[in-house]
Amino acid sequence: MSRLIYFSEKRELGPGGVEAILDTARSNNERNCLTGVLLFNRKFFLQCLEGGREEVTATFGRIAADPRHGNVALVSVHDIDVRDFPDWTMGYVPTTSPEVNSVLRQFQETEDFDPRLLSSTTAVALMNAMRSMGRTTL
Ligand SMILES: Cc1cc2nc3c(=O)[nH]c(=O)nc-3n(C[C@H](O)[C@H](O)[C@H](O)COP(=O)(O)O)c2cc1C
Repeated sequence: MSRLIYFSEKRELGPGGVEAILDTARSNNERNCLTGVLLFNRKFFLQCLEGGREEVTATFGRIAADPRHGNVALVSVHDIDVRDFPDWTMGYVPTTSPEVNSVLRQFQETEDFDPRLLSSTTAVALMNAMRSMGRTTL
């Protein structure tokens, strides 16, 4: 299996906003045996996708072409033997909550979440910390 992490900048989300993204993500990912987590604040997305190599690649291809975000940048892609998010077809972490911000401060100096400042190592560590904070509702 592969785990892929990328970040992007939010564009016009349109009707349904993040909820619509999560709905599609969860039904498609279930079909494709993909799991992961999506972090979102007012400005950025940071997403981890894990599953079969082909499925991760094809899904990332669709995601990267989605006009609801831009400046999509890969942070890391590597092989995994076990999933970090086996129970989430797509967990959601809103990075505006105080609880999440205290974790983010361990990874970056600034108050506001900015995934451009993350190395691939810290991004993976951050994802692991998110395991206890993600949720399956908006
Ligand atoms: C930030 C973001 C995250 C997304 N995550 C996923 C995802 O995990 N899985 C997925 O299939 N689509 C995801 N999408 C949606 C895809 O870009 C695309 O709209 C969708 O896969 C098309 O599916 P459909 O043909 O069933 O409508 C995401 C889109 C955005 C903007």
